[in-house]
Amino acid sequence: MKFFIDTANLDQIREAQALGILDGVTTNPSLMAKEGITGKENIINHYKAICEIVEGDVSAEVIATDFEGMVKEGEELAALDPQIVVKLPMIADGVKACKYFSDKGIKTNVTLVFSAGQALLAAKAGATYVSPFIGRLDDISTDGLNLIAEIRMIYDNYGFGTEILAASVRHTMHVIDCAKIGADVMTGPLKSIVGLLKHPLTDIGLEKFLADYKKGN
Ligand code: E4P
Repeated sequence: MKFFIDTANLDQIREAQALGILDGVTTNPSLMAKEGITGKENIINHYKAICEIVEGDVSAEVIATDFEGMVKEGEELAALDPQIVVKLPMIADGVKACKYFSDKGIKTNVTLVFSAGQALLAAKAGATYVSPFIGRLDDISTDGLNLIAEIRMIYDNYGFGTEILAASVRHTMHVIDCAKIGADVMTGPLKSIVGLLKHPLTDIGLEKFLADYKKGN
């Protein structure tokens, strides 16, 4: 399972990268705005900075909502760095743009996916990644993990190569449950990654080992 961090915060990206387990980064316009990154030039420079920190895929979302606009913007983003994955919304023009980029060998991430049917379309359009938002489904009393399971079954039925990128992950149990179901990738905040480290028995055990070592020295 690949681990992506879902943030535009460079310190958090560096912290996850330093653990040695980070496979990539996902961003979106809201995450950029949260870090105060606004305006085309600043956003472009921020993507470049992220690509310098991590070695894996970096999703960069288009703002255009029409096919021509998405193609123009996506091509500009893809030209920034080979790590860039063009992130496209799950709307008709986004599906068309996904097919366009897939045919050109440019990596894509189809975002804002909330149903198995949408995920099927993304795979048919040759998406590299499909991003079902599990946390936002949970927020409206709908089982986000069940959507991951449905997409896993559909993709396995037909051997689709599109990777299931479980997005809108909110906590460690989302990560573990996605791994059990067989999501290819998860993207979540830093706390959902470092939270996996924690177990009181690890801390107690380590404390005892160190105390016993000191006794013998
Ligand atoms: C994924 O690519 C999105 O950026 C993200 O996971 C959305 O998460 P949220 O629902 O916590 O905003």
